[in-house]
Amino acid sequence: QPHFAYRDGELFAENVRLADLARAHGTPLFVYSKAAMLAALAAYQRGFAGRNAQICYAMKANSSLGVLQVFAQAGCGFDIVSGGELERVLAAGGDAARVIFSGVGKTRAEMRQALDAGIGCFNVESEAELEVLNEVALATGKPARVSIRVNPNVDPKTHPYISTGLKGNKFGVAHERALGAYQRAAALPGLQVVGIDCHIGSQITEATPYLDAMDRVLDLVEAIEAAGIPIQHLDFGGGLGIDYNGETPPPADALWAQLLARLDARGFGQRRLMIEPGRSLVGNAGVCLSEVLYLKPGEEKNFCIIDAAMNDLPRPAMYQAFQQIVPLSLRDPDTPQRDAGAPAPTTWDVVGPVCESGDWIGRDRALALQPGDLLAVLSAGAYCMSMASNYNTRGRAAEVLVDGDQASLIRRRESAADQMRGENLLR
Ligand code: LLP
Repeated sequence: QPHFAYRDGELFAENVRLADLARAHGTPLFVYSKAAMLAALAAYQRGFAGRNAQICYAMKANSSLGVLQVFAQAGCGFDIVSGGELERVLAAGGDAARVIFSGVGKTRAEMRQALDAGIGCFNVESEAELEVLNEVALATGKPARVSIRVNPNVDPKTHPYISTGLKGNKFGVAHERALGAYQRAAALPGLQVVGIDCHIGSQITEATPYLDAMDRVLDLVEAIEAAGIPIQHLDFGGGLGIDYNGETPPPADALWAQLLARLDARGFGQRRLMIEPGRSLVGNAGVCLSEVLYLKPGEEKNFCIIDAAMNDLPRPAMYQAFQQIVPLSLRDPDTPQRDAGAPAPTTWDVVGPVCESGDWIGRDRALALQPGDLLAVLSAGAYCMSMASNYNTRGRAAEVLVDGDQASLIRRRESAADQMRGENLLR
């Protein structure tokens, strides 16, 4: 990642030395590179040059206000999945008209909140939701602009927990029922049909599942329009993967060159397009800094206990995910991780302090370590802080956003008092 690179043996984020940030703010600490986020966004923008397209950042990937501000200022819309996410968009200065609301379980209160804010579109995930949204829209006196999320039944070839477009998943309306759902939506007075959407999964590393899903969606658009219901926009969701450990997903501009060629060939190239990328915009724009607390060599395993844990970095525990772990200082820049008197590289299981065997961050990692060393867990910009918990009453980490040689603290470390706020003692 060009935005996180060693200079004279020290890891930098843009022009800021990460060890300095760790000393100033403590660990665990998330550090994001604004330039890395904008570079990831630029790949999509290049891909859509000359097209009528709107990029809606899927903010579940990282919903910190400072991160949202970067995307809002760059002209992005937002894909939200809760009323809380909508409040975050508005707090960060995002444009409600460019918000789309996804999710299988929107409550009436969330629908009202979104209608009052004037969001751009509801991505409706079931026929039952259409009926409820219609009632809420009629009661509020504001028509709801809707797209129906269709389930194209294609295999994204990713981890089963993050695969969403197969028949057995809870998401979207089945392909066979989609036309009927559109006819119902068009007949409901509180709804205004504006689009169609799909999202087939996450951490997708090939173009083929996207092309297949696109064909299935376009088949439906043809059928729906033949039934007299115009579809203004086509939303192809998110899901493009990143390089965690040598994966080679297509770059966003290359992927979209292929997809746009297919759209053009089928006569949909001038249609308004929307996408909902999350991970690919932020995943490799963030790292998590952590300090080595203890080394615990053993007969079967050598454990390296660090001060970040599954509550900060839940992806290994939840999906057996791989994230690279590297030292902040190479002891000798010419022979990485080795210098005279330094420990030899050993194979470590890097684990956190949480009281669970599932609390591991990396397994069988060759690292030359001493207590007090600082490490960076890479590719930590997406689905880490936004999935962080307070398990073991661990406060959530602080976050810093780097822009050139400037570093801004965008979230202070959470205290125990922060965590107990809102609780009541019995009386
Ligand atoms: N749109 C919808 C409707 C989604 O459900 C998602 C992600 C996205 C867009 C953004 O997908 P992305 O571009 O980030 O792949 N926690 C898991 C990932 C869950 C993804 C859920 N939906 C992980 O850490 O791998």
